[in-house]
Formats: sequence, C-alpha cells, structure tokens
Amino acid sequence: MAEFDLVVRGGTVVTGSDAVRADIGIRGGRITALAESLSGPATLDAGGLYVLPGGVDTHCHIEQLRAGGDADEETWESGSRACLAGGTTSVISFSNQFKGSGLLAPLAEYHRRAQRAMVDYGFHQIITDPTDAVVWQEIPQIVEQGVRSLKVFLTYDPLHLDDRQYLRVLAAARRSGAFVTVHCENYEAIRWRTEALLADGRTAPKYHAWSRPRMIEREATHRAIALAEMVDQPIQVFHVSCAEVAAEIAQAQERGLKVWGETCTQYFVLTAADQDRPGFEGARFMCSPSPRDAADHAGMWDMVRRNVIDVVSSDHSGWCYEGARGKRMNGADASFRDIPNGVPGLTARLPILFSEGVASGRIDITQFVRLVATTPARLFGLAPRKGSIAIGADADLVLWDATKKTRLNNAMMQHAIDYTPYDAMEVTGWPVATLRRGEVVMRDGHVQAEPGSGQFLPRGPYDLAKPRGVLPDGFDASAFA
Ligand code: URP
Ligand code: ZN
Ligand code: ZN
Repeated sequence: MAEFDLVVRGGTVVTGSDAVRADIGIRGGRITALAESLSGPATLDAGGLYVLPGGVDTHCHIEQLRAGGDADEETWESGSRACLAGGTTSVISFSNQFKGSGLLAPLAEYHRRAQRAMVDYGFHQIITDPTDAVVWQEIPQIVEQGVRSLKVFLTYDPLHLDDRQYLRVLAAARRSGAFVTVHCENYEAIRWRTEALLADGRTAPKYHAWSRPRMIEREATHRAIALAEMVDQPIQVFHVSCAEVAAEIAQAQERGLKVWGETCTQYFVLTAADQDRPGFEGARFMCSPSPRDAADHAGMWDMVRRNVIDVVSSDHSGWCYEGARGKRMNGADASFRDIPNGVPGLTARLPILFSEGVASGRIDITQFVRLVATTPARLFGLAPRKGSIAIGADADLVLWDATKKTRLNNAMMQHAIDYTPYDAMEVTGWPVATLRRGEVVMRDGHVQAEPGSGQFLPRGPYDLAKPRGVLPDGFDASAFA
C-alpha cells in the first residue's frame, strides 16, 4: 500500500508562523508528512504557489431560517460552493432562536439542512430569549452536543437582549464552558436616532449609517466587555468596524481579560459613501455596524498589526438585492429602517484580505493565515484539526497564486445571491485549488464536491473558552442566576 494517497509537491507551505518550501503527504484525509521531498503515486503540483491552510470562516449566515419559516437564499449547497471557490473549507454558521420558542427544534432543522454541506461546519447558537428553560436546560444540552458558542445581539428588533438578559446568557455560557460572541451596538440609541431621522424625512439607505455612529458601537462594546468581566466569561466582539471600537478591546486585553475582536472584509474596503449611491443602490452595502470611511480602514489595519483584531470573517448574509425576499422586500423606496441588513462575502474574503493586506504590504503572509484560518480555528475550538498545516491536521489546503490579478464580478462568487458589494474591484492573489480533507474540491474555479460530503464539527471543551477565575468579591453569581 502506498504511503500517501496524495502528495502536494513543490509549494511554499505557510502556517501562522512560517513560510517554508515543503511537500505535504496526505493519507486518509490527514496530513501525515511534511518534508523537503516526498513522492507518491498521486501528486498535485504546487510549484510557484503558496500552500495555505483552508480558510476558516467563523461568522457567516448560511441557510438561516427567517421568521416565516423559510430560509435565506443561500443554501448549504450554494454557500459551500462559494466557500470552496474562495479557499474556505470550514465554517461556523448559526442556529437562531425565535422569541417564545426554544433552541432544540430549530437546531435539529439546521442540522437537517446542513446535510447538503460540502464544507465542514459547526453552529453558533443565537440566543434571543434567555428563559429559565433555555439558560438552565437547553444551553447545557446543545453545548454537550458540540454547539459550543453562543451569539447575542445588543441591538436589532426583535433579536436584542437587555443587559440583564445578556448577563443570563454569559452566566449560562460560563456554567457550560461555552464561548460567547456579541453584536455590539446600542439598541436604544439607534432607535432614538432612527425616529429622529425618519421624522425629518431622511429615509434613504445612507441614513442607515447616520442612525448608528461610531460611539454607539463603542458604548455597547465597552458595556459588553464590562459585563463579561463581571461574570468572568470569555467573549469575542463581532464585526468591529473602526479603531475607536477596537481601542476598547485593546484596553481589555491590556488588563488581561479574555476578550477578542473580530472584523470582516467589508470594514477594510467599503465606506459610508457606498451607501450613498443613487436611488436604492446603497442598500447593496448596508450592514451593521455600518461601513465607515477610508481613515477607518487605516485604523483597522493598525489594530490588526497590533493583534487587537485577530480574526477576519465574512459575516456573509443571504439577502438578495432584487425580488420580494431581498433587500427590496419592503418596496423600492423602503426607509433604511426596513431594509434587511448584511452583505454577501464567502468567496471574496480571502482574495480581498490577501490583496489589501499581503499584496499591499500591510501584513505578511503568516499573519494573513492567522487571521483567516489559524486564530478562528483556535478561538472556536476547531484546532488542531483545522486552521493549520501540521502533522495530524485535516488536509484542508488552498493552493494560492500570489500574483494573479482578478477583477471581481458576481459570477465568480458562486453564491446564490444576485450581487456582490465588491463588483469590479481588482484583487491580486487568487485560490487556484482547494482541498478538503485531502480531496481536490475546487480547481481553477470549478467546484467538484458531493453535496453532503461536509462534516459536522462538534466542539468539545477547550482552554481559550475557560474563565480566568477572577470574580468581583470572589462571588460567583452565575451559579445562582
Ligand atoms: O448586518 C449584518 N451584520 N447582518 C448580519 C447579522 C449580524 O448582525 O451579524
Ligand atoms: Zn452581528
Ligand atoms: Zn452576522
């Protein structure tokens, strides 16, 4: 029997710490050898290319259920195709709770739908209604089943939690050994400003940004961190949009708190001006927090270089632009308050970050790998199986052409969404092949994976999600409330 099922030969292998010339031997879907020279009956030539770990996107909304019972346009099949086309092999998507219902039935439905996946996947559980049954019975149950992270929203009707509810979720997470991710914007402040903007007739998409300026994101981030510190629960702040917000995270980290910051592709390239395009066009760029401006892009790169922001996700959202179920669902002249939030970005994540980061000289290739693969895998309990190139890890690999120039268009995204906010953007660097557990699942843009070949990634206990053991007065309120 041959030693390897496949050898990836001649590439420069990049991990979160090094870039070295090496061949990779793969057997049974795992990396079993890394050496200067390997041979086997089947080889894949990576000469002149980087070999990166498969991307790990720990914040993307795929086939998310909507209030009416149907789901987003992006199915597990189309979403997986988009991921593999862009070099992402593992995702953590969401199971959402509808207020007044429990967690278990929706989660079972998400598992059923994800059986069509072609990427490996896990779920964050969104908590919108932390009843006694949810916090004392259901959260421990789903965590035991491998859904080891919770997502809470401090804004959005009808998702947002007030501070007491947020504390109850933090406490439940602490008891169960789960990680918590937080959408930080101040609900009441957005409501108040929105009412004023609408009263003044300011309804166009661009006023979405006016309804939620930087300080309401900063305030909610500060509060989310302070309350997590009180409960002694590790958190990640999702989709940080600017340095002023990241500074709150930096301060928390300097004080030794277990607080991490994530941002998304859009906060390096989109701006508030995009939401000011003629007519309704600005809706294509509408996500929360709102994209800021070019100075904020520079500020975010600083925070990335300082490792304050150490994960870049897509926050891919499954809303089309056209159609009765898309951004225009409330009419072509709907006010900004009634336009669904979120932008698609599964495929564009690695190419845009590489282009803006590595090709533009802002970060090196190892940091790029940390941002898109190694750190998200570690933070969410997927390491060492995912996120790196190491003996024993899954052979999830991307062969990357660092010099290829590509002008982005929606067809390249291979998603089910009818637009990309990155249309016509030119990027340097592109994935030419993707391997998932040793199988070549994308080559030159052609995705060739079987629906259902993705595997659920149950996540067990891991150190990063453990509390520090530091509580005010030494009193553990989370044991009681
Ligand atoms: O606007 C956004 N980000 N929509 C997706 C849901 C979320 O807030 O993460
Ligand atoms: Zn969010
Ligand atoms: Zn999101």
